[in-house]
Amino acid sequence: MGLFFSVKYGNENSIFPGRAAGSQRRQGICGILMQEDMEMSDRLANIRQEILDGIKERANSRAEAFELRKQFLDSKTGKIGQLMKEMKSIAPEERAGFGKSVNELKEWAQQRFMELDEKMKERELQRRYESERIDVTMPARNVETGNLHPVTQIRNQLMDIFVGMGFEVAQTREIENDYYNFEALNIPKDHPARDMQDTFYLSPEFLLATQTSAAQIHTMEKKKPPIKIVAAPGKVFRSDDDATHSPMFHQMEGLVVDRKITLCDLKGMLELFVKKIFGEDTTTRLRPSYFPFTEPSVEVDVSCFSCGGKGCKLCKGTGWIELLGAGIVNKKVPENCGIDSEQYSGLAFGIGLDRTAMLKYGINNVKLLFESDLRVLRQIDDN
Ligand code: PHE
Repeated sequence: MGLFFSVKYGNENSIFPGRAAGSQRRQGICGILMQEDMEMSDRLANIRQEILDGIKERANSRAEAFELRKQFLDSKTGKIGQLMKEMKSIAPEERAGFGKSVNELKEWAQQRFMELDEKMKERELQRRYESERIDVTMPARNVETGNLHPVTQIRNQLMDIFVGMGFEVAQTREIENDYYNFEALNIPKDHPARDMQDTFYLSPEFLLATQTSAAQIHTMEKKKPPIKIVAAPGKVFRSDDDATHSPMFHQMEGLVVDRKITLCDLKGMLELFVKKIFGEDTTTRLRPSYFPFTEPSVEVDVSCFSCGGKGCKLCKGTGWIELLGAGIVNKKVPENCGIDSEQYSGLAFGIGLDRTAMLKYGINNVKLLFESDLRVLRQIDDN
């Protein structure tokens, strides 16, 4: 009958008024303790088991272990925490025993979760080691580094030389209009010199630049003398296509405008430049030529750096190699740009960069410069 006894035992207003309080309590205590002891030890055992199961089945990471720990050990919501709260409803003389059991469970659980946390920490570290593992014995991956294109290498070398002589660098354009590419350079519409630069027209007015000489006009329109510029990057286009000509190629334009500029300045400057590019023994010679925008005009040859001038395949037996066009700026050109040609004179030159690269590196077909064949490009590393 104790099994159904009220938990509030020891009450004088007992539901069994006919009985002495003492015997009622004794009976009651006896019954309830039996039931509660059993229930309590079962509950504690259950919680213990739940913890063991949880650790076994539900804790695969530190985070999960932490969550699981909360379910039992959180002081407010944890199952063990809850047990503590039930203290109030336990008979005073049983409280100590009850508290001790719960405390033992709590300490046991704390210990388990500490071990679990250690284990998880270890496991996570292990996982990290696994995922970050490197095999130091593995052969290194071969990272290929390229080098600059031969035309870029030549351009850089030329720029260095001319900048060293005090030249500024101006920009060239890929698209020009008729005025800049021809007209202002003293090449009127019906001039035969246009034929030599068979041209890609974009419209009657615009065309792909056929020469970098338009940079002379752009510069002289913007700047007053003294002028000393080289122009790059120098992409130009002509309807030309054979072993030594490609429809797109590169030039570098040079322009000097100042008082009393003569062919001597041009010759001296070019001597210095070819020695730096082709070697100290190289010399130059000037041959008369014709360009509408220079007067006089010259073709500049360099002594053959392959045979030293004796005559070979490269120089076709002549001992000389044609390198660039140049001259004293035709007075009409600065005048077109509002520069007084009585006070100032100028020199100009245009160098083919692809041609210079071919000569310097012994490339016999201009197409090799545009095919991106690494077997060719790898051989030329000159910067
Ligand atoms: N623009 C000329 C050409 O493309 C080269 C040149 C430049 C000649 C400057 C004289 C002066 O052939």
